[in-house]
This record gives sequence, structure tokens and C-alpha cells, in this order.
Amino acid sequence: MSARCYELKQKLDSLHREFTQEIAKAATEQQLRKVFADYGGSAGSIRLAQKDALRSAPNAEKKSIGQLTNEVVQAVEAEFERRLAGLAEEERKRDLERTADVTLPGRKRVLGHLHPITLVRREITAIFAQLGFVVAEGPQIETDFHNFEALAIPKDHPARDMQDTFYVEGHEDLVLRTHTSPVQIRTMLSGAPPVRVIAPGPVYRKDDDPTHSPMFNQIEGLCVDQGITFADLKGTLLHFVQRFFGADFQVRLRPSFFPFTEPSAEIDMSCAFCRGQGCRTCKGTGWMEIGGSGMVDPEVFRHVGYDSEKYTGFAFGMGIDRMAMLRYRINDIKLMFDGDVRFVRQFR
Ligand code: PHE
Repeated sequence: MSARCYELKQKLDSLHREFTQEIAKAATEQQLRKVFADYGGSAGSIRLAQKDALRSAPNAEKKSIGQLTNEVVQAVEAEFERRLAGLAEEERKRDLERTADVTLPGRKRVLGHLHPITLVRREITAIFAQLGFVVAEGPQIETDFHNFEALAIPKDHPARDMQDTFYVEGHEDLVLRTHTSPVQIRTMLSGAPPVRVIAPGPVYRKDDDPTHSPMFNQIEGLCVDQGITFADLKGTLLHFVQRFFGADFQVRLRPSFFPFTEPSAEIDMSCAFCRGQGCRTCKGTGWMEIGGSGMVDPEVFRHVGYDSEKYTGFAFGMGIDRMAMLRYRINDIKLMFDGDVRFVRQFR
């Protein structure tokens, strides 16, 4: 072996030993790969030593220099692979040894639930569904025609003052519906009698105090057929109130006025707080108002093309939020819409 080759071999052996020590220290795959690149990689110190030796070597020696280097590179590669496998094995062992602390509390998932108004709306809807009423819907942004005109509330009619209407800016013809009664019109325009629908949903009025919210929920009822009478109206309402509140509750129809019903009546039921005895909440009367009702006015039938000589019908509109408040004895309607989870959670 030439002196040059001998010198190179010494150098490579020493690099090899260094490499062996370094990879033993590498604790991660990343560190290990870095060490390998520093020694055995194409720009590593082993290749640099080979280049050095080749620079001044005569051609006859180049082959053995190449051989010497390759032997060391192969040995280094083999050690690298072994160490890589070793690291993976250590990692696997650590994973297996890591045990779970079964005494730690589990992570709880917060379950959602229905809002009291949704609960009440569903219950009311179910009671009427059993009487054969199907659910009808209409838009919350309504045309003046459906919300007023077709319900016999023409422009300039004083009844428009009864309801403080939100108009849609820039669209004189559009309002946020002030009641669910426009669904009566939509239902009758879309098909011939007989009709038996209920229409629950949000309505809007400029009103804001402990018992009024600018957005609240009504449920409309409409029944049209041959021979429908005021007694059917009262029987239906009484059945509903007794199913929803209890068999000892009574209904009283108090003469009133609505442009779209004739005759018209306010719906009163026994006070939910004193059961009719008279208390502060019902101002000693024993009654509470829950909505309006009446027999469909022939003028409304004219607007939707129903023959008022052949058909009669009753309609009613009740406040869902109001009934939820009575049912759960809530005294401030704002609680329903504030979104305070401490309140809503009580209805889980
Ligand atoms: N729409 C009326 C209101 O909101 C209630 C009502 C409905 C009255 C149906 C009669 C018939 O005040």
C-alpha cells in the first residue's frame, strides 16, 4: 500500500470511529440523518477526504483510493440503517410503556337542547295536528297585500295603527309581517276548501317592554269548510287549552273587533297563576288573554276567490311566547330572546 493510501486509510478509519460515536449520541431520526449527511453524504467528510487524496494521486492509485473510500461509505451506511431501525424500535417501546391515567376525568361534551319556545311550539302544533290541522308557512317579509289588504285592512284604515309596522326601507310594498294572518291568505290562494291549517312563526311589531318584544311568535289557525260555526271555534280552542294547560282550564270568548273576522272575539283562558281565583297577574279577573279569533269575514273570502255563500270558516291567532310564559311561569319575555344559557338550560 502506498504512503498516500495508508494515510487515507488512517484518515477514513478515524472519521469512521467519530461517526460511530456521533450516531450513538443521536437521539432522534432527524439528528441521525444530519450526522450521516455530515460523514457519509455526498458532501460529507469521507467524500472530502477521498477528493483530497485523489487530487495529487497518480492514475494507477486512483482505483484503490476509490475502493478504500467505498468500503468505509458502505460500512457507515450499514451502521446508519441499523441505528435508524434501533431508534424506531425505542420509540415503539416508549409508546407501549406510556399508560393512560384512568383516574383522570373524561372530557364532557356539552349537549344542545331545544329552546322553551321551540318546545312549546312543537307541543301546540302536535295538539292541532291530532285535530287534522296541517302546518302552513309564509315569509317573514310580507307584501302589503298579504299582511293587510287581503285581510280587509286597506291603506288609511285605522286598524293599521293597531299594529306598529316595520316597513322595509326602499320597498313601500314590503313589511315585516305583523301577524301570522297573511298565511291564511297564502293558504286560501293556493287551493280550494276544505282548509285546516295552523301556521306558527315569528312576527314583528314596534313594541318593547317587559311583556312585549319587537319580535315574537304567533300561531295562526284557519278552518274553512261547509257548515263551520262559531261553536267549532270555541270547541277547538277549549280542547287545545285543556290539552295544553290542563283539564280544569276554561276558555272565554270576549267580543272584539278584527277587520278580517266577523264576529270577532278575544280568546281568554283561566289565569295560569291563580286558576281563575283572581290574582295580581290577572288583575283580579281570573282570566288572561292569549289571542284573537273570529269567523272569517266574507270580504276576505272575496279576496281569495272563495264562495262565501257556500263556505264559512273560523280563524284564530295566539301568542306562542305568551303561552310559554304562562306554562313555565316566566315573567319577562326578554328572557326568551336574551340567549342567556343559564335561563335556557332550565328547560333541558
Ligand atoms: N292577527 C290577529 C292579531 O295578531 C289575531 C287574529 C287572528 C284575530 C285570526 C282573528 C283571527 O292580533
